[in-house]
Amino acid sequence: MANVNRMRAISVAVFLGGMVSSLVMAAPKEVDKVTRQEIVGRIAPVGEVCIEGQPCATAAPVAQASDGPRSGEKIYNSYCTACHTAGVLGAPKKDDANAWSQKLAAAGSYSTLLSNAVKGIGSMPPKGTCMDCSDEEISIAIEYMSGLKP
Ligand code: HEC
Repeated sequence: MANVNRMRAISVAVFLGGMVSSLVMAAPKEVDKVTRQEIVGRIAPVGEVCIEGQPCATAAPVAQASDGPRSGEKIYNSYCTACHTAGVLGAPKKDDANAWSQKLAAAGSYSTLLSNAVKGIGSMPPKGTCMDCSDEEISIAIEYMSGLKP
């Protein structure tokens, strides 16, 4: 009787031991899988080139050249208003014809005024912080807020 019990105890121990070791053996595989997914995630390209019309193009495509320049109002409201609405740091205010004609006179020509805005002048940051604006878009925004014509 005692022998039978010992045999049972041993077989239970062997069985449990097998379970434990198979769990231990399985663990590294799980870690491997997670690590591999992490690595794939980390080395994935930050952006993928995707041509409009292709099934991968789920997000709205970045402005295409054919879309033409954004409107002066749009650029002004996104970037220039921060300073040119209230006249922050001495910025000539929107629609303040007097202030703008003084700036134009100081610059000497519209093209110099435009290049000052593109390069930055005094407290005016380059491109008025619209770093993806083309020179044409900066000019359109200047026309919108100043009424000046190129
Ligand atoms: C951080 C504030 C700020 C923002 C944003 C800003 N401006 Fe200005 N801007 C100024 C200041 C200040 C001046 C006056 C600079 C001076 O004369 O010293 C100025 C002057 C100008 C001038 C006159 C340049 C000259 O030759 O005197 C133009 C044109 C101009 N800004 C266009 C823009 C446009 C277009 C935008 C938006 C795309 C813009 N600014 C955004 C602060 C700003």
